[in-house]
Amino acid sequence: MSIQIAPSILSADFANLERDLRAIANADMVHVDVMDHHFVPNLTLGEPVVERICQVTDLPVDVHLMIEDPDRWAPEFAKLGVASVTFHTGAVHAPVRLARQLHDMGVKACLAVRPAEPVEPIFDILDEFDMILVMTVEPGFGGQKFLDNQMAKTRRLRDQITARGLDTRIQVDGGVSPATAPIVAEAGADVLVAGSAVYGADDPAKAIDQIRQAAQESYRD
Ligand code: DX5
Ligand code: ZN
Repeated sequence: MSIQIAPSILSADFANLERDLRAIANADMVHVDVMDHHFVPNLTLGEPVVERICQVTDLPVDVHLMIEDPDRWAPEFAKLGVASVTFHTGAVHAPVRLARQLHDMGVKACLAVRPAEPVEPIFDILDEFDMILVMTVEPGFGGQKFLDNQMAKTRRLRDQITARGLDTRIQVDGGVSPATAPIVAEAGADVLVAGSAVYGADDPAKAIDQIRQAAQESYRD
């Protein structure tokens, strides 16, 4: 599968979101971080803003829910025109039921694991998900340092997906840049979220191309 790049608008200018969405037209999807001051110590945006983002971009929108009680709220986000909804193992009560509910609504389901969470407990339910998100920073903020100790986990997950013949994608989120893209791609990640490396660059579109190219050269299929 080809590498996909998902810029995180957490590092965009929230007063110029439409402009900053246009600046990433060469990306594969838009990553929207929803935080609630409870699951993580930061607060971002909610349904009305996600709905407008879906209206003004042609790219698929992936909502990364860093919130308590995704069982209750994920279906609300699924109604807004998003392509996929990501929720965390540490917050969800019934991941399989929620994934199936999202699929019934025509939306992809993605399950996220934080750095201290193992990936083995979700092996038996992998086939319920379109993507697994391996966090490569502690969730909550952009601009943090990439945790390379998450690569062994990413490899084990890629090996499991390959052995089972699944087409589940592996997303990584946190500290992804042209420098770290080869590391995550070599470990088997194929959807790369990048916030500060894209929006902190003078030319966001060029940064996307650089991350994509760096990853493609090392991707372990
Ligand atoms: C962090 C968010 C990320 C964040 C990544 O909790 O989930 O999506 O925007 O930012 P960078 O790429 O700057 O690490
Ligand atoms: Zn995110």
